[in-house]
Amino acid sequence: MNLIIMGAPGSGKGTQATQICKKHNLPHISTGDLLRKNIADGTDLGKKAKAYMDAGKLVPDDLVIALIKARFEEPDCKNGFLLDGFPRNSAQADVLGGIVEIDKAIYLDVDLGKIADRMAGRRVCPACGYSTSVDLAKDSKCKECGAALIIRDDDRRDVVENRLKVYSEQAAPLVEYYKAKGVLVTVDGNRSIDDVNKQIEDALK
Ligand code: AP5
Ligand code: MG
Repeated sequence: MNLIIMGAPGSGKGTQATQICKKHNLPHISTGDLLRKNIADGTDLGKKAKAYMDAGKLVPDDLVIALIKARFEEPDCKNGFLLDGFPRNSAQADVLGGIVEIDKAIYLDVDLGKIADRMAGRRVCPACGYSTSVDLAKDSKCKECGAALIIRDDDRRDVVENRLKVYSEQAAPLVEYYKAKGVLVTVDGNRSIDDVNKQIEDALK
């Protein structure tokens, strides 16, 4: 099963992708997570990507497309995958369409007014990438590996505003792109995490 999960920054893509991938045994391919790992590892790609990410801008297509192509070469992608955060504009969608066929594009439809609060409440683990919210975290330590949870670099309010603007201009039109291909599944992302997951699983049956 080849899946995409799409939606605004903070719409819950990573949260839902983790659950979907666990249930369906799919690799979770998040370009944001891959880029953050490159930054943490100090790679050339990470050095090039950091300024764009910290400003809430898209990392240039050639860098992200090369990253995705390399990831698809790994053996765990043979039986499907879930893409989170890719494609993010029409150029990336066209490249993707030339490589693989997408079975379903899950769109998390969330009121943009809710997003700033969700992002202000997000906490992430710098060691293993685990992500949660202050409401759900029992303490300030990662429940997976015990490292201290931190606020993501691009979750500052001014950067969030820019990410939402970039999303509206470049990624939001992809909803129509996948609708026209007949693979779009729209889910009400305003509901609870469990409820959103149930809507997704019903659509995947
Ligand atoms: P990326 O990491 O993909 O960030 P994003 O798309 O902005 O999305 P987020 O990860 O912020 O949110 P999410 O939808 O995963 O929500 P989450 O589940 O965490 O990209 C970061 C940057 O990398 C980009 O700005 C760009 O620079 C670069 N980049 C990445 N891909 C690229 C590409 N293809 N091309 C070019 N550049 C690229 O949830 C958020 C919070 O809400 C959490 O606290 C969570 O616990 C909570 N929450 C989740 N669901 C619910 C719910 N139903 N109810 C209440 N709270 C909820
Ligand atoms: Mg995410």
